[in-house]
Amino acid sequence: MSFDPLIILSERFKQAIAAAFPDQPASRDADPLITPGRNPQLADFQSNAAMPLGKALGKPPREIASAILAKLDLTAIAEPFTDASIAGPGFINIRLSAAALAGLLGRLDTPSLGIDLPEHPHRIVVDLCGVNLAKQMHVGHLRSIIIGDALARTLTRLGHTVVRQNHVGDWGLNIAMVTAKAQAEHAAGRLSFSDLSLDDLERLYKLAQRECSADERGLAAALRWWAHPKAVAELETQVTGAREELAKAKATLVRLQAHDPETVAAWQRIADITMRACLETCARLHADVRAEHSAGESSYSEELALVVDDLARRAVAEESNGALVVRCEGIDEPCLIRKSDGGFLYATTDMAAIRRRVQKLGASRVIYCVDIRQGLHFKQIFCAAHKAGYAATPTGPALLEHAGFGMVLGEDGRPYKTRTGENIKLTDLIDEAIERAGAVVAAKSPDLPPAERARIAEVVAIAAIKYADLSNDRARDYVFSFDRMLAFEGNTGPYLLYALARTRSILRKAAEQPGGPPAPTQGAGAPLRLTEKHEKELALALLRYPGALRSVAQSLEPHRLCQYLYDLAGAFSAFYTNCPVLTAQGDATRASRLRLCALTERLLADGLNLLGIETVDRM
Ligand code: ARG
Repeated sequence: MSFDPLIILSERFKQAIAAAFPDQPASRDADPLITPGRNPQLADFQSNAAMPLGKALGKPPREIASAILAKLDLTAIAEPFTDASIAGPGFINIRLSAAALAGLLGRLDTPSLGIDLPEHPHRIVVDLCGVNLAKQMHVGHLRSIIIGDALARTLTRLGHTVVRQNHVGDWGLNIAMVTAKAQAEHAAGRLSFSDLSLDDLERLYKLAQRECSADERGLAAALRWWAHPKAVAELETQVTGAREELAKAKATLVRLQAHDPETVAAWQRIADITMRACLETCARLHADVRAEHSAGESSYSEELALVVDDLARRAVAEESNGALVVRCEGIDEPCLIRKSDGGFLYATTDMAAIRRRVQKLGASRVIYCVDIRQGLHFKQIFCAAHKAGYAATPTGPALLEHAGFGMVLGEDGRPYKTRTGENIKLTDLIDEAIERAGAVVAAKSPDLPPAERARIAEVVAIAAIKYADLSNDRARDYVFSFDRMLAFEGNTGPYLLYALARTRSILRKAAEQPGGPPAPTQGAGAPLRLTEKHEKELALALLRYPGALRSVAQSLEPHRLCQYLYDLAGAFSAFYTNCPVLTAQGDATRASRLRLCALTERLLADGLNLLGIETVDRM
């Protein structure tokens, strides 16, 4: 049985509703609509079921509410019903009994913090990071790493097997362009592969892009409007040059595909430099993205022709103006899987990826943490994959989900960039956060030894960046503000770290008291006495933890866990202000309150860990 009051009450109400209106189909699957009490003075929880039921059955909701109450058995859970139990148009108010709360909380206080293994654990692929070769990581990459890591951790915590996949953009014409450029520069003696930096690569990448893009339209316009012959000549040179560069890049792609050793070696060097920087940044962010999670686009290169042939042979795909497309009902634009020149696309690789993830890796759920602007792409490939049977498992189709995220904006409301309009390098951003956090920590805790302060600054900085990202609604854009994310008040990373450090300090002090129990066992097993309002409210907040995790797993919205932890920290703060712990009257009360502190400590630490946030003992 669950110990989440929301679930227990939902079950009891469902039974009561069915019993109160036995012959009414509307009552069989009526939602009990249990929510936390709107007015905590009156109710811990309430059911709003009587209103829609009244409508369906054509009866006054208050009458419905009394009929439900007559069948509702909440002995040993709630306080007895009174006249005030039905309020307003027909809300049913419930007050849990202190003894029931204590009993439930006691059952949450297990090593797993009440998270039971699921009946049917899933294998879940989380697609995260997805950097591209020869490009610096910038703020745009932050979200996929942070959100993907938090979702992966939460799903693992709930007992599922998670396989992380870093779908690195390391293949195709763009990558061939930069490889060709690097080889040409090397041949001309202007570049050494041994001391090439990611900055050098990014410059080469941009140069190659520019040189390969022919201004065909400009030339056509110039010819049409009888532009000055010199202008036309210049444009003609540009276009011819670009066509030549593009031809070279295409030849390089062919050599790459044919495993030409020299070309592959140059490409590998570019991949190594990019991935070293990428994995270092992930490690600094305390995000679990490692080399073994890489499954770049190149890893599918041998499978693309097979996938396309398979789709064509089984008539899942059809010809359209020389190209090959998969049409899907309800989506206007078909999914393009082979261009008319025979080239494969981003979507082709993603089709091969779904096939591998479901058929080989055994995933029954695949979650893509990718920019929300790629929404159409994912709609198309999900639909095409289902149509092709690539997402089929023995127990039904795998769940394919795009956990899309919005942009990171600057304080001017535009995409976050440097003043000169450059992308902000992720490493620079982290450095700046650590520097700023260092100043904040030095001001707040001047007495801590410098080495500890430096460590705290690092943890606070990363917590601030990650929490600011995770606590915002995933699908929306958010404004990046160092000042706001580093504040110690409000719904921020530093605030939660501070709240946790405070629980730890109380437990430390308790251990130092004469005759006090050793820190890790404080209050363990002590009978819980939840008599004060703030004790009850803290207990209720603690009991909501499993539900909060489940809602993150279902909605793929980490901000729900952030909001939960923030609420818990608030409940703890109110408890601590109003209910003395170390100086409590009587050993039993003191032990009970210490146990509440210890539970809060474990739960905050566990929750922050699921967000990928490290913690400190004091700050
Ligand atoms: N490299 C891609 C980009 O920069 C992201 C990859 C996302 N994952 C995927 N399976 N398509 O947009």
